[in-house]
Amino acid sequence: MSQKEIKSADGKLGILLPGLGSVATTFIAGVEAIRQGIAPPVGSLTQMGTIRLGKRTDKRSPRIKDFVPLATLENLVIGGWDIFEENCYESASKAGVLEQSLLDQVRPALEKIKPMPAVFDNRYVKKLNGPNVKKGENWMDLADQLQNDIKTFKETNGCDRLVMVWCGSTEIFIETSDVHKTVRSFEEGLRNNDENISPSMVYAYAAIKSGVPFANGAPNLTVDIPAMVELARELHVPIVGKDFKTGQTFMKTVLAPGFKARLLGLNGWFSTNILGNRDGEVLDDPGSFKTKEASKLSVLDHILQPELYPELYGEVHHKVRINYYPPRGDNKEGWDNIDIFGWLGYKMQIKVDFLCRDSILAAPLVLDLALFMDLAKRTGKRGIQEWLSFYFKAPQHAEGLYPEHDLFIQLMKLKNTLRDMKGEDLITHLGQEYYD
Ligand SMILES: NC(=O)c1ccc[n+]([C@@H]2O[C@H](COP(=O)([O-])OP(=O)(O)OC[C@H]3O[C@@H](n4cnc5c(N)ncnc54)[C@H](O)[C@@H]3O)[C@@H](O)[C@H]2O)c1
Repeated sequence: MSQKEIKSADGKLGILLPGLGSVATTFIAGVEAIRQGIAPPVGSLTQMGTIRLGKRTDKRSPRIKDFVPLATLENLVIGGWDIFEENCYESASKAGVLEQSLLDQVRPALEKIKPMPAVFDNRYVKKLNGPNVKKGENWMDLADQLQNDIKTFKETNGCDRLVMVWCGSTEIFIETSDVHKTVRSFEEGLRNNDENISPSMVYAYAAIKSGVPFANGAPNLTVDIPAMVELARELHVPIVGKDFKTGQTFMKTVLAPGFKARLLGLNGWFSTNILGNRDGEVLDDPGSFKTKEASKLSVLDHILQPELYPELYGEVHHKVRINYYPPRGDNKEGWDNIDIFGWLGYKMQIKVDFLCRDSILAAPLVLDLALFMDLAKRTGKRGIQEWLSFYFKAPQHAEGLYPEHDLFIQLMKLKNTLRDMKGEDLITHLGQEYYD
């Protein structure tokens, strides 16, 4: 296979984050701590992952970052928007994810990042209100203001390239409607302040119009509408979403493929969470919860394929609950009770109690997505980047397909995409050559 042309990763990469809350500040503080050698980049495929090339006997497994040209941590410049005025040091201190002693070591870098005024409307995130919000005639005017911010950020910081990763709150549930169907109808909607357009869509539109790849870390519809796909393809911009796959759903997409592989049946899966950070508070609103619920529920059906295995998965009771419980802060507890059955229908139970740290799990995903989306752009990719499904609870996909949720298939797809970019043989795991 021949190597694809990949533009150089030299120069500065700006990472723009709408939403400078727990996830974003944990990511930013982490990048600075890693740069200073205070801590290792645990959880990041771009920093720690390796990729096997050729046969197993070849013993070629370079680090991914040495195999494909990625922006280095030294070359990252980070900025963003938020409805609150606090700088990232204040915001990270309030989020309470990282220890104050660690934050103090990276304080100057965090203090420098002050949120630009946000595009926000309380109708879409009912639990929040803040002072740092743009005013404009309509959505289109606000999108223009964002495009201006993007341009100014690029110039002021001497960036060669930019990417945007949505780290803002989960918005209320919106379904695809006529306004989302074409670029034309969407732009009309921007001018008419259509209520089916949410702030996250305004950011995404501004990013794509500016030629900036956009990744969506929340379950909002955002770029998962035909108009955005059309625009991204037209302007040669990569887009991807949605909803970082971190705690409970990450575990689900590890366990469920295992049950299916062994043809173990499933009667029910009850998942509950207690969560006390601002994200938990936002998700306490039924509108925002519905968006999250849809994203979390979609996973099992696609992995288990009940239409192919009606006796095993035809009647699964899948429930997901999120309970806002302030004492836990960002340290979420995700409980799963799984009712399975085996040989002759005999019942068994599995209990998973994941005492996780939400933003600690999400921060490396922000880094990987930013670097891979930049790589995608430099290799000339455009539109939906399904090869990055690995990072999402509800991976965006082409019309007419079902999404691939199995974590290990997703990883294989990601690594084969990297091999393909570099003209290396794809790995099929057939392995016949070792026995011929
Ligand atoms: N932490 C995880 O494991 C995880 C996993 C999947 C998805 N997510 C999603 O990532 C997002 C961020 O999570 P978090 O824990 O950092 O939440 P957070 O509440 O700490 O931070 C979100 C920030 O976004 C800001 N914001 C909201 N609307 C905005 C807008 N229109 N423009 C600019 N800023 C805006 C809020 O003021 C807040 O500071 C949430 O949507 C969450 O559901 C997180």
